[in-house]
Amino acid sequence: MLTAKDGREARDLWNLDPGFRHLNHGSFGAVPTAVLEHQQEQRHAMERNPVRWFSTLVPRIEDLRSDLAERLGVPSDHLVLVANASAGASVMFRALAQSGPLHVVVTDHGYGAVSMGAERVARETGGTVATLQIPLGATDDEVLQVFTEHLSSHQTDLVVVDQVTSPTARRLPVAEIARCARSLGARVLVDGAHAPGALADPVVREADVWIGNLHKFWCAPRGSAVLVRNSPDLDLYPLVDSWGGRERYPERFNHQGTVDITSWFSASFAHDHLEGELGWDAIRSHGAAMMRHAEQRIGGALADVGVSDPIADVGHAFDPMRLFRLPGGRIWDHAGVDALRVPFMEATGCIGAFTEFHGEGFLRVSAAPYTTEEDIDEMATSAIPILAEIIGRRTL
Ligand SMILES: Cc1ncc(COP(=O)(O)O)c(C=O)c1O
Repeated sequence: MLTAKDGREARDLWNLDPGFRHLNHGSFGAVPTAVLEHQQEQRHAMERNPVRWFSTLVPRIEDLRSDLAERLGVPSDHLVLVANASAGASVMFRALAQSGPLHVVVTDHGYGAVSMGAERVARETGGTVATLQIPLGATDDEVLQVFTEHLSSHQTDLVVVDQVTSPTARRLPVAEIARCARSLGARVLVDGAHAPGALADPVVREADVWIGNLHKFWCAPRGSAVLVRNSPDLDLYPLVDSWGGRERYPERFNHQGTVDITSWFSASFAHDHLEGELGWDAIRSHGAAMMRHAEQRIGGALADVGVSDPIADVGHAFDPMRLFRLPGGRIWDHAGVDALRVPFMEATGCIGAFTEFHGEGFLRVSAAPYTTEEDIDEMATSAIPILAEIIGRRTL
C-alpha cells in the first residue's frame, strides 16, 4: 500500500466510493480531492469576475504551456492544450484533410473512436484505410516488422498508432514505427492517451504529432490533454475556430472559444500534489507491483473457474494494466463486453474494464496509487466466480 507523506493511506487522497473496488483507472482516471479543490478555487476565481478571468487568459495559458512543456521535456512552442486525446486526433485529421486522397494506416489494437475518425478522413478525401493485424502477443520486433512490410509496399500518407493500446493493454514500439514511417514519407500520429504519468518520459518525439491525456494516469481533472507537434511544417488548428485564427501555432491554440478550462489550470497542481504526497517513481513502481499481484490472484481465480491461460500474453505489457481472459470461452463483440461493465460492478462491488479483440473477451484491470492488494484479492476471490456466473447466464 502506498502511504502519503503525512501517513495517510494513498487512497485517502481520493474521495472514491469506499463501497467499490476501483480497478479501472484506465478508462476515465480519478481525480484526487486536493486537485478537485484546486479546480474549485479556479472556478470561484472565474465566477467572481468572469470578465477579468477571460480577459487575462492568454498570458496564463502561455505560462501553463511553458510549465507543462518543461515537465514533459519538450520545447514550449511544440505543446498546446486540448480537451482530450480524441480532440487531439481530430486536430491532426483536420490538418491533413485538405491534402487528400489520404491513405491511412491504423492497427487492429487502435482505440475505436480514433480509428473511426481516421476512417472518416480517408473516406472524405477519397483515400483508403489499411488496418494492420498485429497478433496479441507480438514482440516489439514483430510489430515493427508488420509495419515495415506494409509501409514499404503500400503508399501511406498517415499512420495512426497507439503508444498504449486500449483493448489489449499493451505497448507498441511507437518511436521505431514513427522513424520507419517518416523515412518512407508518411505522417505519424502517436496516440499516447494513457502515457502521461504512467511513463516517466511519455512524449514520442519521433512522431509528427503526439497526444496524451492528463486526465488519466496524471490525475488532472477531465478535459485536459496535451498535443505536441514535432514537425513545424504541419499547420495545426484548434477544432473550434476562434480569435487565434490569424495567429501561428502554438499561439492560435490559446483561443478555443468560451469554455471552462479550469481542468487545464489544475494539471500542474495535480502533478506536484502526487509528487509531493507519494512521488511519481513510487507511484509507477506501485502500479507494476499491483499488477504482478493481480497476475497471481486474478489469474489464479480465473484458472479456478476454468479459464486456461488466463493472463493474456500481450508481448510488451504496460506496467499499470493487465489483460485477463474471460471465462466461458465464447465469441464476444464490443457491445457484448461493454454490456458487462455495469452489471458486474453492481453484482460484485468490483470495477474493471471489459474489452474485446478479434472475438476474444478480456477483463482489463488497472492500478492507480489508491489500489491495494485487498482490492485485487476481493476481485479474485469474490468477483471472479460471480463474473463466471454472469457470463454463464448471458445469452448475448
Ligand atoms: C488509446 C486511446 N486513445 C484515445 C482515447 C480517448 O480518450 P478521450 O476520451 O480522453 O478523448 C482513449 C481512452 O481511453 C484511449 O485509450
